[in-house]
Amino acid sequence: MRAAVGIDDIAVYIPRLYLELADENRPEKPTEFSMARKSDPSKYLHGIGIAKMSIPDTYQDSAVLAANAIFELIERNNVHPSSLARIDIATETGVDESKPVAAYVHGMLEQKYGKGSLKRTSGVEYKFACVSTADALESSLDWAWAGRSNGKYSVICATDIARYPLTSPGEPTQGAGAVALLVKEDPRLLAIDPVIGTHMEDEDDFWRPLFSTTAVVHGKHSERCYLRAMEGAVDDWAEQAIASGIIRAGPGESLVDHVGPMSFHVPYPKMAEKAFAYLLRHFWRGLPRWKQILREIGEEPKADRYKKREEFEKAEADYMKLFMETHQFQTEYLDKVADGLVHARESGNSYSASEKSCLSMLLETKAMRGTDLAGKRGGSGNYGSGCKAKASSWTVREEWAATAKKFGHAEKLHHRRPISLAEYEILHEGKPFPDGRKFVAEPENEFVLVDVTSQGYRHYKFAD
Ligand code: CAA
Repeated sequence: MRAAVGIDDIAVYIPRLYLELADENRPEKPTEFSMARKSDPSKYLHGIGIAKMSIPDTYQDSAVLAANAIFELIERNNVHPSSLARIDIATETGVDESKPVAAYVHGMLEQKYGKGSLKRTSGVEYKFACVSTADALESSLDWAWAGRSNGKYSVICATDIARYPLTSPGEPTQGAGAVALLVKEDPRLLAIDPVIGTHMEDEDDFWRPLFSTTAVVHGKHSERCYLRAMEGAVDDWAEQAIASGIIRAGPGESLVDHVGPMSFHVPYPKMAEKAFAYLLRHFWRGLPRWKQILREIGEEPKADRYKKREEFEKAEADYMKLFMETHQFQTEYLDKVADGLVHARESGNSYSASEKSCLSMLLETKAMRGTDLAGKRGGSGNYGSGCKAKASSWTVREEWAATAKKFGHAEKLHHRRPISLAEYEILHEGKPFPDGRKFVAEPENEFVLVDVTSQGYRHYKFAD
């Protein structure tokens, strides 16, 4: 029998600067950003679901964010460096075309633990837009399931800085952060099922060419790709889950009834809410409860009744809105998904780090509230543009709550300071501050980028 393998602990690193898009207490009140972009702040809060975007300071890149998350994870768990077999990084905003972020992170950690302390620890950088975290995790799981871990641990760290051009439609969906996972046998948080669903296609929904620091995106197309790929991955997962007997749905039940807490890739919270609605609709069709919903909101639009594809897509979008307002949907959404999305509402998109950061928020919130999740099955849905989705499931372990209460996630979101629009635009464009400042906020016991040489080599240090 395979040993239970999964996530033992999670550490999130959130930059301490944010730009306010909307005031959550007074959504109608204009913000500096909404006025500059001639937009309605309630579009940010209610239309896409983001109130604040995390912004890295001048001394932070994706390697620094990762090193800080991993350092916290190692310290909190008193992990000896010699027990780490691998430290793998998932990112789409790496700092070099050849040298992986994993190597720079290795160097930063050895500044703390001693030169050579990690020489037997392997590391690699995974890239597939936002979904590479799921690939990195799957590789560590396979390694442990194959019996090759020999009691050692693996760390997976997803790290990214989401950046779109100033004034572009993607701009209010930026953000940044890193999330580090301790992966081992007999984990305290989540034991992952050996059943992982995949859906992949070659798509042009979002990319970042080698010459650009910001992403190019076909926004509306990317939303459709996300939903289609997620449904495909979940179908693949469902087939395997049924075949392996992990889940059995009885009469009148859907597979999703057997999956409790869920986290999705969150480019912005409304997208994850839509993905969840899309899946419920998919899995509820044909069940008695779906007949009740049809009675309440009418029949689903049928493509052959519309002359133009755009008209059908509009009818579909309107129908989804009606479904998302039903109490059946709202009950499931509030119970299973909404708590995790608070991270993305407060911090924005962190690409590869977004799903596991929201999972961290979900678990911490449920633990603080005293929700009993032990033994319950949950699910994760990851999406990466280009495009691929992965769907997986896990069982919550008995000791999960004590571990999740120590994440300090909500505290980190509170321990931040707002920046002005001018400061944000300077940081975004990488320009010098007119008053000669080198950064916005003093580093606080963390790794920082010191300089980049004329040959593009990067130096880092721990700033005490
Ligand atoms: N009050 C409330 N809601 C409002 C509003 C107001 N005053 N004004 C507009 N809205 C609503 C709109 O009705 C719309 O809702 P629906 O989507 O439910 O119809 C929503 O706010 C967005 O408004 P727009 O339709 O005007 O869209 P936009 O031009 O602002 O673009 C976007 C939105 C396409 C998501 C854009 O932000 C974007 O391109 N983002 C980057 C790409 C992205 O995140 N894609 C997601 C899938 S790809 C992925 O997941 C990978 C990744 O991480 C990037």
